[in-house]
Amino acid sequence: MAESWDKKSILHLVKNKFSGYAFVVVSNRQPYIHKISRGKIECTRGPGGVITALDPIMRELGGLWVCCGSGDADKLAAQNSKVKVPPYKPAYELKYLWLSKEENLGYYYGYSNQGLWPLSHLVFVKPEFNNSDWEIYKRVNKKFAENIYEEIRGKKTIVFVQDYHLALVGKYLKDMDPEIITLNFWHIPWPTYDVFRILPQRQELLEGLLSYDLLGFHIKYFCNNFFEAVSNEVEVKIDEENQLVVHKGHTSLVRGYPISVDFKGIEDSSEEEDVRGFADSLKEEFSLSDYKIIIGLDRIDYTKGIIERLKAIDNLIDRHPELKEKIVFIQMGEISRIHLTKYKHLNDEVNQLVEEVNFKHSQNYWKPIIFLRRHLNFKEVLAFYKIADICVVSSLHDGMNLVAKEFISSRKNDNGILVLSEFTGASRELKDALLVNPYHLEEMSEAIYNALTMDEEEMKKRMRKLRETVRENDIWKWIGSIISDIPQE
Ligand code: G6P
Repeated sequence: MAESWDKKSILHLVKNKFSGYAFVVVSNRQPYIHKISRGKIECTRGPGGVITALDPIMRELGGLWVCCGSGDADKLAAQNSKVKVPPYKPAYELKYLWLSKEENLGYYYGYSNQGLWPLSHLVFVKPEFNNSDWEIYKRVNKKFAENIYEEIRGKKTIVFVQDYHLALVGKYLKDMDPEIITLNFWHIPWPTYDVFRILPQRQELLEGLLSYDLLGFHIKYFCNNFFEAVSNEVEVKIDEENQLVVHKGHTSLVRGYPISVDFKGIEDSSEEEDVRGFADSLKEEFSLSDYKIIIGLDRIDYTKGIIERLKAIDNLIDRHPELKEKIVFIQMGEISRIHLTKYKHLNDEVNQLVEEVNFKHSQNYWKPIIFLRRHLNFKEVLAFYKIADICVVSSLHDGMNLVAKEFISSRKNDNGILVLSEFTGASRELKDALLVNPYHLEEMSEAIYNALTMDEEEMKKRMRKLRETVRENDIWKWIGSIISDIPQE
């Protein structure tokens, strides 16, 4: 495996190793969403780590991305379900799949997000598995496979499937044509066997995953958990040294590929004039000029440790009242999966806590927390990073966490401190962040205090090292390692 990859060497690799192959990415969530705004179709990039990572790759490689359409104007924007994106510089094609309400409930809200999501994240939210949801999950996975097959029939193709929503797509594709090269990247943690074994459909799910030619996880630890699950549940031969699993005569390569971000792209874009402009207007909108700014940026999800973060801010001001009118914590995030009770409750809990903490500590015109449920486009995200002195990522469990890596990539001047949960995949690489246990309130608040009072030399030293790490292990290394590992007959 080559040690360093960049856009050029990847294009070269694809040309040499896979000339004549079509490249298809498949995910549940769409990378671009069309909505009607002021009577016009507006196209924005969707949320989540999968899109953050894969959109820059697809903009370089081109090809087809198959996903669900959920924007109110997706049907209008797409002709025959297809549309070129991004709108300002079309580089690849999207093909939308339309799901019925029943499919959405069973496959996305049900099996994927009430079942597999809490099963894979150890955050003490009880997973729910319902057989009718599983039947719909399979039906939707098959629908994906059929829609992909329509586009690639008779062509040599690599199909790169994303995540836990689509575990069985590879199996259905192989049933249609065993020559199709299938890959899956599992973007969330893989649980320990003790946890995994509660899944009623575990054998079928594992067999589905074992039909992929390559199966990627973020870190070796998740691969090991996966090996333990298959060795307990399915008849397989495992070659741990080469990370191969043979099942019913088919071999899958199972490896860890730490996902990352487009370091250089983010670094360059962060210096652009419009990003500076957005940053200035954010500061003006919320009158932030006189404060040290602590930020958080997440989908509102119970895995992200948002409650713990708010409590840490409360604790920080309890212990250091001198920080009143000196700091502001500003959290941005999109509402997520709101039809599920757990998410509704979380939103209510967040509202209540923000209200309480602000009421308790506010004085004059100042309050410690600004909490906004707002969609930020890419440039606005970069502006948000720009205004920050400290970024807090306090996930209770997270496969990787790309906010941490984006924040680092955006800090060209080596300023800024990252407070990072030790339960993120990212913490295994980002050792120069202030690592915290988000379940330990005082430890979190102390880490934020240390960040606020850290001297400039140490801050810069840490940030330089963090930037070195992300620069060397960027998204091109991730995709380059995957593509160079793709097994060929
Ligand atoms: C995680 C998952 C993604 C998902 C994203 C946003 O990053 O790994 O597959 O797209 O969260 O969640 P949502 O349910 O809004 O797609």
